[in-house]
Amino acid sequence: MSTPTTKSPGHARLARRCLEVITGNQAPSGAYPACPSYEVYRYSWFRDGSFIAEAASRGGAVHSADAFHRWCAKVVTDRADRIERIVAARAAGEQPADADLLPTRYTLDGTDTGDIGWWDFQTDGYGTWLWALTEHLRRHRGDPAPYREAIRLTVGYLAATWDLPCYDWWEESKEHRHGATLGAIRGGLAAIAGAGLDNTGLGARTVTQIESRVREGGMHDGHLAKWLGSEAVDASLLACLTPFASVDPAGPVARATLSAIERDLVEPEGGVHRYLGDVFYGGGQWPVLAGLLGWHYARVGRTDEARRELEWIASHATADGLLPEQAPSATLLAPKHLARWEERWGPNATPLLWSHAMYLILAHELGVSI
Ligand code: BGC
Repeated sequence: MSTPTTKSPGHARLARRCLEVITGNQAPSGAYPACPSYEVYRYSWFRDGSFIAEAASRGGAVHSADAFHRWCAKVVTDRADRIERIVAARAAGEQPADADLLPTRYTLDGTDTGDIGWWDFQTDGYGTWLWALTEHLRRHRGDPAPYREAIRLTVGYLAATWDLPCYDWWEESKEHRHGATLGAIRGGLAAIAGAGLDNTGLGARTVTQIESRVREGGMHDGHLAKWLGSEAVDASLLACLTPFASVDPAGPVARATLSAIERDLVEPEGGVHRYLGDVFYGGGQWPVLAGLLGWHYARVGRTDEARRELEWIASHATADGLLPEQAPSATLLAPKHLARWEERWGPNATPLLWSHAMYLILAHELGVSI
């Protein structure tokens, strides 16, 4: 397990290091591995990669973000037939074949991973990709033309599959429809529609359907719920507030969601657990989620708390500025489960590129010069 430094490096220095870790590990294809040194994370996820590309785009590594987005577009257009089959099956009221449903992760060359014995069907990453692509094109005045076909296919795919149960952000609970998944899909479709990149109106219609579905079954006690019908929260729901703005980030539903997450999952000194009942590596605190929480705090003007999360992430960097998936010295929800995961897969994944991305995004939000 990596040892955290007691003194964190300056934020500008760590932010630059994050950018270096991101660009230095990017494959020639444009794909970002989730973690280059952790056996089962040597793949590229649309979910992780989209946030990583957002960080690269903000940090001025425009070519890196471009290359990732082009890689995503190719992954999608290479599977046009498969997507059209899914769309046709859903239009006929049928369940698409499991083998047709798009995976969450690919090899760095953009091929399916094949059967590696790991659960796969997750739709959130495709929504997150549409959102990150739109942000990147807007920020750098990019030309959307090379992406039009991939956007068309992705909008069609999400419109056809958003209502299917699938694995959540944590690749668990596949029998449910998850709040964060719906938020990511809605966020991506709304971004594309808002940027005028979907002239069919399909994305905008799907946004309306998702919103009414969440209003009817995806809330409990005034807050967004972990899945439709659940009473619990999950820290991934933070993304529905910021960046996806599924609900008004400063409005009552966002406030209630944030309060429930703060009550159940946020540690007073900073750091955020995924959900109550998490046992993965003992259920520690995730820099990715601290970054998401800080980003939301920054957006609603709670700057001191945003800085607290930035500090907390930095305090868990290794001496050479690498960030883990879970803070090694974190408070654990289920300590007796830690050894089991360490025996199975070794120490928790470091460097996790998504952790670096979220630190960089939060640093950027807080005006740290990169
Ligand atoms: C996490 C996913 C993530 C993947 C790669 C999994 O353990 O649950 O959210 O996409 O690792 O980082």
